[in-house]
This record gives sequence, C-alpha cells and structure tokens, in this order.
Amino acid sequence: MSQQVYPVPDKFLKNARTTAEDYAAKYQQSVTDNTQFWREQAQSIDWIKPFTKVRDVSFDKDNFHVEWFGDGQLNVSANCLDRHVANHPDKPAIIWEGDHPYRHKIISFRELHQEVCRFANVLKKQGVKKGDRVTLYMPMIPEAAIAMLACTRIGAVHCVVFGGFSPDSLASRIEDSQSSVVITANEGLRGGKTIPLKTNVDAALQMPGTEGVTSVITVYHTEHPTNMQQGRDIWYHEAIAEVNEHCPPEPMDAEAPLFILYTSGSTGKPKGVLHTTGGYLVYAATTFREVFDIRDNDVYWCTADVGWITGHSYLLYGPLANGTTTLMFEGVPQYPTWARIGQIIDKHDVTILYTAPTAIRSMMREGDHYVRESDRHSLRLLGSVGEPINPEAWSWYYNVVGEGRCPIVDTWWQTETGGILISPIPGATPLKPGSATKPFYGVQPAIVDGEGNILEGECEGNLVLIDSWPGQMRTVYGDHQRFIDTYFSTFNGMYFTGDGAKRDKDGYYWITGRVDDVLNVSGHRLGTAEVESALVAHQSVAESAVVGMPHEIKGQGICAYVTLQADVEPTEELRKELRDWVRSEIGPIATPDAIHWAPALPKTRSGKIMRRILRKIAANELDTLGDTSTLADPSVVEHLIVTVYPER
Ligand code: WTA
Repeated sequence: MSQQVYPVPDKFLKNARTTAEDYAAKYQQSVTDNTQFWREQAQSIDWIKPFTKVRDVSFDKDNFHVEWFGDGQLNVSANCLDRHVANHPDKPAIIWEGDHPYRHKIISFRELHQEVCRFANVLKKQGVKKGDRVTLYMPMIPEAAIAMLACTRIGAVHCVVFGGFSPDSLASRIEDSQSSVVITANEGLRGGKTIPLKTNVDAALQMPGTEGVTSVITVYHTEHPTNMQQGRDIWYHEAIAEVNEHCPPEPMDAEAPLFILYTSGSTGKPKGVLHTTGGYLVYAATTFREVFDIRDNDVYWCTADVGWITGHSYLLYGPLANGTTTLMFEGVPQYPTWARIGQIIDKHDVTILYTAPTAIRSMMREGDHYVRESDRHSLRLLGSVGEPINPEAWSWYYNVVGEGRCPIVDTWWQTETGGILISPIPGATPLKPGSATKPFYGVQPAIVDGEGNILEGECEGNLVLIDSWPGQMRTVYGDHQRFIDTYFSTFNGMYFTGDGAKRDKDGYYWITGRVDDVLNVSGHRLGTAEVESALVAHQSVAESAVVGMPHEIKGQGICAYVTLQADVEPTEELRKELRDWVRSEIGPIATPDAIHWAPALPKTRSGKIMRRILRKIAANELDTLGDTSTLADPSVVEHLIVTVYPER
C-alpha cells in the first residue's frame, strides 16, 4: 500500500464542482437520508410516469427484495436520445473511430435517434416484442450501440455477447437467454485482422438449444462474402431501408428487465446478470456525471468493449443519458503502432480517457516515446477500471499520459453492481496510487471477517455492501435462488462482492483482488471452473485444476495443471493442442498462459483440490506453501514442484 498522497492538481481544483468538504457532507447526507438523495438524483431522468416510492429494499435472504422507483415508468432510449435531440440535435452523440486510422464517423444525436427508431422498427417487423430477448454479437461499430438502444426503445431485453467468445460460448448464452433474434456483422476488424463473427453465429446456431432463433440480422461491415441462410438471415442495410423512422418509445416499468449480461462466477456456467430499467439508468447517469465531472463540451472516451458491463454503463448509457459525446473505438492500442491512443486523443480532442490497467501496462512497456508523439492538450481527466492498478502503472498514467495535470479516477465496481461503487470524486478526493479511495454517494461498503463481523477502522477482510443502491442487479436470469445463494448467503443481510479489501487510517479502500475462484485476466472475468471444464472435455485430459498466477501485463495469467489419461504421453504438441482447444471452446481470452503436467493434484482427504497450494506453486512462492499435512497424499506436492521447476 503506497501511502504517497497526490493532492488535486491545481488547474483541476480551480474549476472543481465538488470540494473535499462538499464530498464529505454530501456523502453523509446521502446515507443518512438515502431515499431523499436518490429521489433528487432521479430528477435528472425523464419519467413517463413519475414514481411515488423511491426504494423498497430488504437484503435479508429469507425476505429478499430490491425495488427502486417501483411505480414509475420511463424509456431508456428516450432518455439517451429524444430529450437531447430537443436540446442539441447536432451535437455529436457518437464519434466512431475505426480500426483503420483513416476511418471515422461522427453521428449526431438527431442522426442516432433516427437510426435507432428505424432499427427498432426492423426489430418489430421481425416479431420482437416487449420482454423478448435479443442477442448481440457485434464488433465495436455504431450499429452495436444502435441495436442496444433500439431494444430499449421497444422494451426488448438485450444480451450482448463479447465478440471474442467462441461459437460454443455464444450458443450457451443464446440458449440460456432464449433469444429469438441475433444481431451480428459479417466480420469484425481488430488490429487489421478480421474476426469471422457471422461464421461463428452460423456455427453456434447449429448447436442444440439455439433452435429458438428465427432471424439473424447482419451488418455488412467488411467486403467479405457471407453465407446467408434463406428465411433466417437478413442484411441490416436492407432491412433498415424498408422501415420508417417513426417509433414512439415504449413506456417501461422501472423494474422491467433492461438487459442481461453474462459474467463468470466461481462455480458453474456464466450467469445471466439481470439489470432493470429505472434504477440502472438513474445509477449509470448519476455516477457518470459525478465521477467523470462531466461538462457540456466533454469528449469522453471509454475503451471498453460493448460486450462488457463497462461498455454498457460508461460507453453507452451513462454518457448518452447525460447528453455527452462518447467515443467508440473499433481497434486496439497497438495498431498501426502504439502511438494510436495518443493520436485518437489529439484527433478528436478527447477530454476524458477511461481505460484498463492492462492497457496502461502494455503501453508503458513499449516506452514513453509513443505517448509523447501526441500532445494530449485536450485531456483533463483519466480513469481506470477492471482490476487493481499497480502503483507503477498508476504513476506512469498520471505523469506521462496525463502530464501530472489530470486526476485519475480508479473506479471499483462489478457487472453485478451496474455502476461504480468506490471511486475518487475528481476535485474532491486526494489520490493514493492503487486505491479506489472512497465510496460513491449513497453507497455503504463494509469490511467483514470470515464470520461476517463488521470490522472498524484500519482493517482487511471481505468487501461487502450493507445497503442497496439503484444500479444493483436484480436476479440471475432464470435462477433467482442462485442469485440469493451467490450474493446474499455468505454473510446474511449483506451483498458479498467476492473481493477482498483493506481500509487504511484515512478511510481509503484498497481492493486486494478476488477471494473466490474467479480470475481477472487483462480485466476480463473468467471462472476457473469454466477453463477446467473446457480442459476435461478434451479426450486426453483426465483431470485439471486452474488457478491464477501473477502476470506482468495481464495482471493475472491462467495457469492450468493437467493430469492426462493413463495412456497419453505429455508432449509439447499436446500442450499446444490444449491451449488451442481452450481458445476454441471459450475464446482467446481464456488461453492458458501455462500448462503444467500434473501426475496428480493435491487433494484433501475428502477429495477437495487445494488451490491455495497450486496458486503458490504457480507464483513460485515455494517457501510459503503452508500446511500440507491435511492432504490425502502430501508427496503429490513434491512431485508437482519437480515437474513445474525441473532445474530447481
Ligand atoms: C475487479 C468490471 C480493483 C474486482 C467493472 C471486481 C477492480 C471485478 C476494479 C469485477 C478496480 C474492477 N480495482 N479491482 N478499480 N474494478 N475490479 O464484473 O475484482 O468485469 O470484483 O466488472 O473486477 O469485474 P467485472
């Protein structure tokens, strides 16, 4: 824990809307009278039918319920579009920067509104009704945003699946969400390489469980011929030409489902995190405005993909609900060179950059000169999300990218939380590199020990939330019991985050990482169980255990211990084959960084794999393996160490 404190940079302080005293007072008021606080925040949203009740909440697992703005009605797309069309129709809503540096597009609020209405009519024509699920498997192109907003316009529930997932992963999400329509593009483009999205969709729709899909709407994005299945597949550009742009927004109940987003847990298959309309929008809009200190002329750039929650809340809904110009980038930081991020900032006069530690670390490794090729005068605020940021990366981001004049908001939150829960308020919060600092207004974190006792003052333990906030997920789609079991049963009456945290003497929170079997690889969440089940699905594998290991760029890498079937020889070819196998089963983000052949796995007498030991071996922390006497066969550990570190 670095205790170096960075005061608010002078220039920022001069224009700050919130001072340290304001934050303290406003925070206190927001938790003392939480209802009043959120009643006021909700006024920044247009309600078709105003709510009379702000909150109705119980975290008790036997009487669990969470409702925000329960009797109100609203429409998300109307909040993101129509009201801004009335105020500033020509302001850019989306600045799209293509993979290729010579391609960009600027879409005004008026244009975006028209396109969303038309595409909403396309969806209607395909039979999509309020409450129906629509799966998106899209590259980072404006049509992804258009499709999401079009769903919200008619009350359909979107399920965005990250374009890097395999056909298998896509199929299981289509099946779980029972989607009837899939929206995709013929191909995606990243760093000059193509991604065969439509071919993947075709493969997914061959798999059992996906029979409910009746149409596939495909954007013609690259000049690549694509197989179109008669009666099922339609082109986006053809369909949109056949409809008009009149589509009134559907009034939606505040607690109506807005979207499902799949995320990994410590066990089983990824779960469908369900967010609802009113609370989510109020929360995304409020946190966006306050955490990013939003002004009318900001050009805000979030580098996250729309396939993740950050892409939902802070690329799309938060910015557009506030009428803010949001930049969407199709490509990768290293294409054509590592100077690209700086070039984009200069090209579009970006004022706020929100990215992930893994991207910061990889830029840092390439050397300062790439960043220094740009002048970045427009930048005034930086943000970080997705994983703990190490102090070295933080300092580099602060001093080199931001030239010491831009505060960094290190924002801690989760797919489940819908929006940021712990973060500095720029202008108000002095920064400590590596700390997400203090809770957002109305948010009540606590640190508990293993028994759920709330710890006071300086401490370390499990991070929980003791009260609700409007953006929290409402259920696991189709499995409410799993929702209660996962989040509200570990510590009764509290939402358990799965993260560990420390609190220092100044009340600053330091997230120490997951305390469960969830990995965070380059800011992407993956369950160890998912990678394990992919591995054991290979005919040569008898058993496997997957743990995280420290990785300089990715934060965490994937380390797999594999026990082969008795008659199988461990070879380099097989190692490569298994890596490729996991890639094709889940997607490239799940590719193991290390595969170790394990003659056997360390297990307790009851047969439970002792991951603690496997993590230590993976991290080469052999001196602190801890007690191995409870193992069924302690010699297994010695064998493993010899296999992993033969020259030791
Ligand atoms: C981790 C991403 C430290 C954490 C928004 C959490 C962080 C998980 C931070 C959620 C941060 C996210 N500092 N750790 N600023 N932000 N995490 O659902 O472990 O993809 O539980 O949501 O990422 O990942 P998810």
